[in-house]
Amino acid sequence: MSSPPAYEIITVPPVGQPGREELRQQCYDVRIDVFHREQGFPLDTEIDEYDEEATHILLRLVPSLKPVGTIRCVKLKDYYKLSRLAVLKDYRKYRFGAALVQSLHDHVKADARASGLAASDAAKVIAHSQIPVKGFYGK
Ligand SMILES: CC(C)(COP(=O)(O)OP(=O)(O)OC[C@H]1O[C@@H](n2cnc3c(N)ncnc32)[C@H](O)[C@@H]1OP(=O)(O)O)[C@@H](O)C(=O)NCCC(=O)NCCS
Repeated sequence: MSSPPAYEIITVPPVGQPGREELRQQCYDVRIDVFHREQGFPLDTEIDEYDEEATHILLRLVPSLKPVGTIRCVKLKDYYKLSRLAVLKDYRKYRFGAALVQSLHDHVKADARASGLAASDAAKVIAHSQIPVKGFYGK
């Protein structure tokens, strides 16, 4: 495998902060490419009620800033739900998916500590995955 292109992972600013709309749209663009164009899921259900409040994470190449991967995290009552993990087809197998999951876990740990949800390092995360990628989350 060729070596991965240079990249960075950023957290889209929270609700009400400058830059959220533009960067969140870049996450949507990756998801639409993967889930709608590639996998054939309907376009009208791609964006759902969780997206407004969710924490969105974006992986982009540097220095071009081309968006190539995303994941989102929704905070529910006493746990976090991870979903909509997607990496553009041409950029798979570079461990970008794993890097996105790791970065989401880092976010959850920090958030759980800050909000008193987890006294230690243990916060509950559930993953919402399509059956064929269960193996990915098991790693
Ligand atoms: C799933 C996805 C995000 C993985 O991204 P990626 O950057 O290619 O994955 P990585 O390179 O980080 O792979 C990490 C590990 O998971 C494994 N893996 C990757 N995709 C997998 C899949 N679909 N099923 C099972 N294992 C998978 C890799 O082989 C690798 O294993 P290793 O640690 O033994 O080498 C990407 O294939 C994708 O966007 N798929 C389409 C959308 C999708 O299915 N999203 C998840 C739905 S919830």
